[in-house]
Amino acid sequence: MNYWEERYQKGETGWDAGKITTPIKEYIDQLTNKNLKILIPGAGNGYEFDYLIEKGFKNVYVIDIAETPLENIKKRKPEFATHLLHADFFSLETKFDLILEQTFFCALPPEMRPQYVEKMASILNPKGKLAGLLFDFPLTSEGPPFGGSKEEYINRFAPKFEIKKLERSYNSIKPRENKELFFIFEVK
Ligand SMILES: C[S@@+](CC[C@H](N)C(=O)[O-])C[C@H]1O[C@@H](n2cnc3c(N)ncnc32)[C@H](O)[C@@H]1O
Repeated sequence: MNYWEERYQKGETGWDAGKITTPIKEYIDQLTNKNLKILIPGAGNGYEFDYLIEKGFKNVYVIDIAETPLENIKKRKPEFATHLLHADFFSLETKFDLILEQTFFCALPPEMRPQYVEKMASILNPKGKLAGLLFDFPLTSEGPPFGGSKEEYINRFAPKFEIKKLERSYNSIKPRENKELFFIFEVK
């Protein structure tokens, strides 16, 4: 069984905030174009998905390699079953206007970071944005979650993205206070 699916089945999901997190909620709240095609990669239980749907965004998709959290979302939003993609993010071929990152980047083995940047850039429409949260604590061999720094993120993403924002998140949930950066990167 896949490592992640096993974690969900055993209920070992320390990353799961149980509801949409404040930084992602507040970012969504200021979006005005309800037609944006949005992806939540490595969505897990995908509370952002429900929130977006309830706010009137209909062109929203999640992708995850673990089936259990997708089944959970399906129970909550059965009419959107076709928007729940049970697949490897790196196999995606369709394009999006906005991709929301939260604890997916840090879940991947660090050696996959260059592929993450490439793939994200390749599945965004012109002017498309990758936005969300990245952890701000030292990268060690221990993880997931694997850490990183503002400097590392700039070096990694700047070749493919315009760094519109990358700063200490002021509205993190308590356990992540002072440990994450909020960012908006626009594809070049
Ligand atoms: C740390 S969890 C975060 C889940 C969710 N973003 C959250 O904030 O609760 C990482 C998620 O990424 C998923 N995942 C890991 N590698 C993946 C891949 N290559 N393609 C799609 N999903 C993946 C896992 O199944 C897991 O649900």
